[in-house]
Amino acid sequence: MTPEIAALVAAARNAAMHAHAPYSRFAVGAALLMQDGDILTGTNFENASYGLSLCAETVAVAAANAQGRMREIVAVAVTGGAMDADGTMRGDAVVSPCGRCRQILNEVAQMAGLDLPVHCAAAEGDAIATYRLSELLPHAFGPADLGLA
Ligand code: THU
Repeated sequence: MTPEIAALVAAARNAAMHAHAPYSRFAVGAALLMQDGDILTGTNFENASYGLSLCAETVAVAAANAQGRMREIVAVAVTGGAMDADGTMRGDAVVSPCGRCRQILNEVAQMAGLDLPVHCAAAEGDAIATYRLSELLPHAFGPADLGLA
């Protein structure tokens, strides 16, 4: 793992400590690397009306967009794991974005004009699986199909 990816995974793990996930008890953190080296993060944000819950990647992308920085995103890290009694995230299985988040990330990728690297990490340990978004969501429908990218 390069130092840059390690820092991005660390930021995702730190963010996951703030996950609002009292229903699934599964904390997820996402971190976005920006062109200038900044890192923006998100966590899953569950709701008592379960279906309204938001995923960490979606929250992170919306936060970047709220700063007018959606097109500056150059890489993504996501991590997650079951929360133990004190809220610490545990587990050694890498977490990859759900289908809806892949579509959200595709919006970023097409708008930014790059095949976004997505680094999938576990809650603990050094395991990492890196994919391009085109691998995670081949033949994607997106802004380009509407003449917007
Ligand atoms: N979750 C994410 O935040 N991102 C994903 O890509 C997969 C799933 C969240 C949703 C829910 O709060 C918890 O993980 C368990 O599904």
